[in-house]
Amino acid sequence: MKPRWLLVAALILGAALPRAAAPTIAIDASSPAGKVSPLLYGLMTEEINHAYDGGLYAELLQNRAFLDDAAAPIHWAPVRGDGAAASIALDPGQPLNAVIGTSLRVDVTRASTGHAGGVANEGYWGIPVRPDARYRASFFAKAAPGFTGTVTIAIESEDGKTVYATGRVPGLSPAWKSYELALTTGSAAPTAKARFVLTVDRPGTIWLGLVSLFPPTYKNQVNGFRPDLLQMMIDMRPGFLRFPGGNYLEGDHIADRFEWKKTLGPLSERPGHMAPWGYRSTDGLGLHEFLLWAEAMNAEPVLAVYAGYSLKGAYAKPGPDLAPHVQDALDEIEYVTGAATSQWGSLRARAGHPAPFKLTYVEIGNEDFFDRSGSYDQRFAQFHSAIKARYPDLQVISTVGFEHPESQRVRSVTPDVVDEHYYRTVDAFLKAARGQYDTYNRKGPKIFVGEWGAYETPFEPWNPRSRGEAPTPNMRAAIGDAAWMTEMERNSDLVIMHCYAPLLVNVNPGARQWRPNLIGYDALRVYGSPSYHAIKLFATHVGDEILKAAATGTDVLASATRDSRSRTIYVKLVNPGDTPAPVQLEITGATLGATATALTLAADAQATNAIDAPERVVPIPSQIPDVKRGMTYTVPANGIVVLALQPR
Ligand code: AHR
Repeated sequence: MKPRWLLVAALILGAALPRAAAPTIAIDASSPAGKVSPLLYGLMTEEINHAYDGGLYAELLQNRAFLDDAAAPIHWAPVRGDGAAASIALDPGQPLNAVIGTSLRVDVTRASTGHAGGVANEGYWGIPVRPDARYRASFFAKAAPGFTGTVTIAIESEDGKTVYATGRVPGLSPAWKSYELALTTGSAAPTAKARFVLTVDRPGTIWLGLVSLFPPTYKNQVNGFRPDLLQMMIDMRPGFLRFPGGNYLEGDHIADRFEWKKTLGPLSERPGHMAPWGYRSTDGLGLHEFLLWAEAMNAEPVLAVYAGYSLKGAYAKPGPDLAPHVQDALDEIEYVTGAATSQWGSLRARAGHPAPFKLTYVEIGNEDFFDRSGSYDQRFAQFHSAIKARYPDLQVISTVGFEHPESQRVRSVTPDVVDEHYYRTVDAFLKAARGQYDTYNRKGPKIFVGEWGAYETPFEPWNPRSRGEAPTPNMRAAIGDAAWMTEMERNSDLVIMHCYAPLLVNVNPGARQWRPNLIGYDALRVYGSPSYHAIKLFATHVGDEILKAAATGTDVLASATRDSRSRTIYVKLVNPGDTPAPVQLEITGATLGATATALTLAADAQATNAIDAPERVVPIPSQIPDVKRGMTYTVPANGIVVLALQPR
């Protein structure tokens, strides 16, 4: 028996100590707490991890203009043996034109019918072969005087034994001429173990310039996009596309910036440039293509303009030195938004798009908190006043947000919006998701979270140790991402746009510079990481009204929105724990229908998707049969749930 004094003490203490609150998510639907920004969910992009070349941009030949390496025609190899002899070399003495200052010289010293010699391209980790597909091949060529051979182009197996598609050009002339032909595959099984070859059946010397091969593209656009990758992004229903970077906007040096004027027009007029992630960009995906990409997704461009600062520290001094860059930005805005009769708008019209694109936001630079010269304040001010003078309705974004000390932020004018970047561990996001934005000044600039992503381990995207790791994040990271999204969504009166980074990764060895990334692919296949599915779930189930959502007595994170027209309430629940978490859903101020739908993304913390296992972690839909105010809903361990609750 317990002594009497112990019972008395227990009674007193029991009365004095507050009871642990029942785990509750309280949602107040009586009146909205704010408006959800219509552009809340978007995409950020740049040339990293072979996102464009070897990714979304559908060109299949790597080093098509022979400019990738000044010393050797990398990714090209002679086709010889079997009775043929050939050698290849760069020939800057025979440039294609003033822009592409080299060509490929192919010397075929032995060849005959059935024993052709020439050159092969390995593609971007293979050439994808699909059955009954029409490819568009094109190239510039000329031959040494007297050459009478026929040129054959083909897509064939790596060992040359299987020819999937082939076509012929009857003869070459001694002057540069362009050639174009269609190659059509038959009933081949899909494979990426293929190469592109161009051969001749007579000895001779020929020169090649800008050799290109496109598979079927999205809506069959010329110079277009890979349909499967683009579809993954369309499915996310992004409100905006932030481009062209990221570091890719700035380049390592001023000469390596994204010089948009050099990314327009015929491919043979685009020199390409050295990108900051260790390889050259063809600029086949140039300003015009970025705009078409945004349009294909029904998204608005968020245009980042070069702001006179490059990554290795060089910058243009505010004043006359910066003026040409400011003018470039004004011209660029005119290209995007100007009438078809305007100087730069007319170029857009000539490229096939007479209608101006919608543009609301222009970002000045990228991560200018790295500029230790302290020039950003004045550089920003110079861009800001020129843009506002000519385009008063445009919203101008500063690249230094409140996560940086005031001394680094823009002070001499007030930016409309500031861009904050957060690469954080899952735990850091779980902490930030409990109120980071609650304390922000609602009267100050709006917030654009222009880059963010959760890490399973401490932040080390470039660490060589991360090379062996998966290119895309696991379920645990998706939990951090989803938690962070609840914070941004609950505060979307202030956080008007956000986008994960990086978006794309070619998963082949040697193709990537960063991890983790949202969408992975090789030449033939594509998959979404758990984080991709989490973002897609959030972005495709969001209303226009913010509802107050408060969690008590639970680690589950939540946000709620409502569609003012259909009155559907969307509740997002994130359980970071490794056991199921029952929560009481206290939804006041709305009369709910009897059933609701749930979309659940849940898995072991370490589980992930991969190119060979693309659907290990995907959302599962289900019905909730008995919806009641105060009902208990159990969020699975490591689980992300989106509930769609209909009104009665
Ligand atoms: O997203 C990868 C890089 O991270 C971006 O290029 C840069 O803006 C940031 O530092």
